[in-house]
Amino acid sequence: MVKAIGWWQVFLGILDPVFEAPVMFVQHESVVSQNLVTDNVWVVEGEMATISCRVKNNDDSVIQLLNPNRQTIYFRDMRPLKDARFQLVNFSENELRVSLSNVSLSDEGRYVCQLYTDPPQEAYADITVLIPPGNPIIEARDEVLREGNETEMTCTAMGSKPAATIKWMKGDKELPGKPKVELTYDKMYTVTSRLAFTVSKEDDGVPVACIVDHPAVKDFQAQKYLEVQYKPEVKIVVEFPQGLTREGENLELTCQAKGKPHGVNWVKVDDDVPSHAVITGGDLYIENLNKSYNGTYRCVAANTVGEAYDDYVLYVYGTTPL
Ligand SMILES: *[C@@H]1O[C@H](CO)[C@@H](O)[C@H](O)[C@H]1NC(C)=O
Ligand SMILES: *[C@@H]1O[C@H](CO)[C@@H](O)[C@H](O)[C@H]1NC(C)=O
Ligand SMILES: *[C@@H]1O[C@H](CO)[C@@H](O)[C@H](O)[C@H]1NC(C)=O
Ligand SMILES: *[C@@H]1O[C@H](CO)[C@@H](O)[C@H](O)[C@H]1NC(C)=O
Ligand SMILES: *[C@@H]1O[C@H](CO)[C@@H](O)[C@H](O)[C@H]1NC(C)=O
Repeated sequence: MVKAIGWWQVFLGILDPVFEAPVMFVQHESVVSQNLVTDNVWVVEGEMATISCRVKNNDDSVIQLLNPNRQTIYFRDMRPLKDARFQLVNFSENELRVSLSNVSLSDEGRYVCQLYTDPPQEAYADITVLIPPGNPIIEARDEVLREGNETEMTCTAMGSKPAATIKWMKGDKELPGKPKVELTYDKMYTVTSRLAFTVSKEDDGVPVACIVDHPAVKDFQAQKYLEVQYKPEVKIVVEFPQGLTREGENLELTCQAKGKPHGVNWVKVDDDVPSHAVITGGDLYIENLNKSYNGTYRCVAANTVGEAYDDYVLYVYGTTPL
């Protein structure tokens, strides 16, 4: 029993400092984070960055701001550093706030807020410089597309930091692109996204947009309208008469063609169109119907993809119903 207590005490003796050390460490950490705080800064190249060193419960300790090379930018409200791009925004017992104008890539790094307490405290503000990409550029492999063909487009956003992301929209539908990120010699990123899809005739006239997302830019996009060629679709509409076609009446037919045909053409199958028929664009107008005009009237539309037609069978009835 006595031996057991002895072991227990030895055990405690060994453990004691081990238990204490982490407790002290945790307290030290919380003191630092409670008294001196700052924030990381993201800034677009050429714009202004603001670094704020804030002190809670200050006991009149001296505060200073150091650059990444640990040179003093501000010591209290005095600026030993010659760079006039650094300006004092606020100096109070709770805050040292400094602005840096016309930020360039070389200003990047870890800035240090330092408080002369015992022990001294430090807090770090990382300045990250953002460089916007150049205007996005869309390139299409095919200028004119055909229904059912696969086409390919690429969009490039050059020279940004960090890398931009590219999103594709066809009309109001998002399509998945394949991005490729390249790091250029000057440590900028160029992103190229490739989009491939099968064209349908509904895509004709629809815009494809390449939308660039980057923290330094807003609403950055380029777009291209699709031009799709497809075999025409033809439909004959009877404008007049609404009822039976009788001798002596007039007939008016309209040919509606979709798919950008080179033109529409009226013919009569195995016969000639009556000589007094008037054809204007897609309209066929025949006055004073005669039984001899009976037959099949055909509207034909064609383009480089193909040809299509629709038929109307004219059947001229006598003036008096049977
Ligand atoms: C400077 O800081 C003090 C204390 O936080 C605040 O009362 C004051 O409004 C600040 N001045 C400016 C110009 O921000
Ligand atoms: C901003 O800095 C660049 C170099 O980094 C310099 O060429 C340019 O003149 C500066 N612009 C202003 C307004 O100070
Ligand atoms: C497009 O599709 C047609 C057949 O529909 C084919 O003949 C042609 O080669 C295709 N063109 C391309 C560029 O794929
Ligand atoms: C119909 O046409 C024929 C020959 O083209 C002509 O002889 C006849 O008089 C016409 N009938 C009417 C009602 O116009
Ligand atoms: C035209 O159709 C009418 C309607 O039945 C018919 O009576 C007439 O004989 C037809 N005329 C010709 C030339 O086919």
